[in-house]
Amino acid sequence: MANDSLKQLLQSHLAWWGLRQFTSDDAYFSWQRETLSPDEIIALLRAVEEKRHGSPASETSFYDATAQPRILPVLYSQRYDYYMAVGPRVADRVDGARSILDVGCGVGILTTFYARQYPDKTVVGIDRSPASIARAQEQATALNLRNVQFECLDLDHRAPALSVDLILATHALLQAEQDPGIPSRSWKTFERAVDGQQQGEFERRTGIGAKLDHLRALLSARGRMIVCEKTRQLARRIPLQRALAARDLGLIEQPELLRYRLVEEIADDGPFFVLGVGTAHERQWNELPEPDEGSPFEGAKLKATSTGPDAPLYENHWPSAQGAWEQLRDRQLIKENTYQEPDGRQLHVELGQAQEGVYLYCANTFDQRQLVIVEPARRGMLEVYYQEIVNSPL
Ligand SMILES: C[S@@+](CC[C@H](N)C(=O)[O-])C[C@H]1O[C@@H](n2cnc3c(N)ncnc32)[C@H](O)[C@@H]1O
Repeated sequence: MANDSLKQLLQSHLAWWGLRQFTSDDAYFSWQRETLSPDEIIALLRAVEEKRHGSPASETSFYDATAQPRILPVLYSQRYDYYMAVGPRVADRVDGARSILDVGCGVGILTTFYARQYPDKTVVGIDRSPASIARAQEQATALNLRNVQFECLDLDHRAPALSVDLILATHALLQAEQDPGIPSRSWKTFERAVDGQQQGEFERRTGIGAKLDHLRALLSARGRMIVCEKTRQLARRIPLQRALAARDLGLIEQPELLRYRLVEEIADDGPFFVLGVGTAHERQWNELPEPDEGSPFEGAKLKATSTGPDAPLYENHWPSAQGAWEQLRDRQLIKENTYQEPDGRQLHVELGQAQEGVYLYCANTFDQRQLVIVEPARRGMLEVYYQEIVNSPL
C-alpha cells in the first residue's frame, strides 16, 4: 500500500479516535482547558508527575488515567505526529506476516489501525495497564474489528501464549527513560567496552532483557520484529542494539532516525529497526555516533570565517567536536582536570593553546563534547568557563 494513502487512512483513523493535530502550544492548551474540567487537568498533571518517579505501579496508573474517555483524545493528541511517523512505516512492512503482536499497545490507537488495514491478519495487543486494555477492547468492538484481540499482561513477568510472525514494539520496551544507558570506555572515545556484566545490569534495571527473552520465544523461525524506542543517545542505543543482537535478531533494513513534533517541541526518536531472526542479515550494527549538526572544522580558515568580533573562532557542541579537537595543530595544555565517578562516569575539561587559538574542550563518557576556540587575547573568557565546569563537574 502506498505510504501516502496509509497516511490519509491514519489521519481519518486518528480523527475517529477524537485526536486532533496541533502545531501551536497555545491552541493545544486552550483546547485542553475547553475540553477538560480544572479537576481533570489537575488529576492528569498529578499522574504525569507520578510517572516521573519511574516505578511500574506509577507508570501503570498514569496509563490507566490516560485511557479515560474524556482524557484520552486530549492527551494523545500531543502524540499525533508520533502516530503519523510510526503508523504508516509499520503498516507498510506488515506484508508477509499472518499474525502480529503489538507489545505495550496502550489504548490500541495504532493496533486498531493495523487491524483495520489488514483484515486478513490476526492482531493481538498486550499491555499491563488494565484501563488501556479495556478501552482498546471497547474501541475495537465499536470499529467492528473481528481480527484483533487484547490481553492485559505484564511482559516483565510473562509472555502471552502465542506464536507470531511479526512483533511490534514501539515506545514499549525501554520505558525507563531516566536510564542514561552505559558509559563509553573513557572520555576520549565513543566506544563501549564489550562487558557482559555492564550489559546485564542495563538489561536488568530497564527490564529489557526479560521482555526480549519473552518476545523472542514467541517468534516463528522466519519471524520479524519492528522496534522503535527512545534511544537516540548512543549510550542507550548501543545496549539496546546489543540486547537485540544477543537474541539472534539482525537488521533487515538500514535503521531510520525519526523526527516529529510533540505539538511545538521537536522530538528526535528511534532508530526505527526492522529485524529478522537469524544472523544471516547483511547489515551491520552501527555503534558510531550519528552524523550531527556541528560545524565542519577547517583549522587554517578559522580566522577568515569568524562571524564577528565577539563570536568565538569556532564552536561545536556536538560529538563531531571530538574530531575537531583531534585535528588542532600543536596542541599544548594550559590546564586540565578529569573527574571520575565510581559508576564509570568521567568528565574531562581542558584549556589549551593550539595554532588555531586558545581552546576549551570538554568531553564526558555520555558522548557530550564541546569545543570553543578564541583568539589568544580573549583567553580570559575561556578561563571563566573552565572554572565554572571545575566548580560543578558532574
Ligand atoms: C508510550 S505507550 C506506547 C503505546 C504504543 N505502543 C504506541 O506506540 O503508541 C507505552 C505502553 O507500554 C506499556 N508497558 C510498559 N511496560 C510494559 C510491560 N512490562 N508489559 C506490558 N506493557 C507494558 C505501558 O502500559 C504503556 O501503555
